[in-house]
Amino acid sequence: MKAKLIDGKAIAATMRRSLRTGAAAFAKRAGRPPALAVMLAGEDPASQIYVRNKIAACAETGIKSLEYFLPKNVSERELADLIDALNEDGTVDGILVQLPLPKGLDSHRVLGRIKPEKDVDGFSAVNAGNLFLGNETLTACTASGCIELIRSTGVSIEGKHAVVVGRSNIVGKPVAMLLLGNNATVTVCHSKTRGLAKFTRQADILVCAVGKREFVTGDMIKPGAVVIDVGMNRVDGKLYGDVEFSSACEAAGFITPVPGGVGPMTITMLLYNCLQAARRNNI
Ligand code: GUN
Repeated sequence: MKAKLIDGKAIAATMRRSLRTGAAAFAKRAGRPPALAVMLAGEDPASQIYVRNKIAACAETGIKSLEYFLPKNVSERELADLIDALNEDGTVDGILVQLPLPKGLDSHRVLGRIKPEKDVDGFSAVNAGNLFLGNETLTACTASGCIELIRSTGVSIEGKHAVVVGRSNIVGKPVAMLLLGNNATVTVCHSKTRGLAKFTRQADILVCAVGKREFVTGDMIKPGAVVIDVGMNRVDGKLYGDVEFSSACEAAGFITPVPGGVGPMTITMLLYNCLQAARRNNI
């Protein structure tokens, strides 16, 4: 079998066009554009690129970005004061603190300070808890991007066996909850799972978010499965997924490439969450 490619770039582009229209309509109604505050503490090069891409995507979509580049020795008090001020600012709809935070800062406490209605990453305990409870909430962007990509194949999620490889708070856990919310039977595996292949071979839908280059190979994939590869493993300047693409293509029915699969969806879902937050905060 030769897998069909799931073109994340094209799906993201279509979504972004409609988000641009939505942002313009919001701006007309509210008399101001939707607004996202983005905070980066320290100088982690990968984080700087992510933040720059997020700011550029906001500009393209008609979402105003407020940018806060803070030194790596910023105190938790200073971060908390800034978050408090943005929480109270009625013209700011979303607040994002880029992770990882510099050593010594407690990310759980910092993220928990963001008002849940403005937590566009969906990382706070309140929003993660709402996802767990099945309540409508702002949902972690990469996880909801995975669901959009699965939907794009036309394969229904309900009743399927979905296997998630990875259990991070950013992707693995939220994507497992979303799949469960869509009535899949969900198995969560991770780097310490024994006999991983025995689980992955049962997957009608396989989401790999373990952060290990080419961890899952074609012989571990059920013929015809939908394979979503969240991996972004950079080795000698080249990007590799968590799935060995060449062998996986022979088994899977649908597969996301790396790059060009999940990556473009993450920021798109962030823009989506910003617009949702703006609409809900300005009824
Ligand atoms: N670090 C890695 N991924 C993310 C993300 O989606 N959001 C934030 N805020 N930080 C990250």
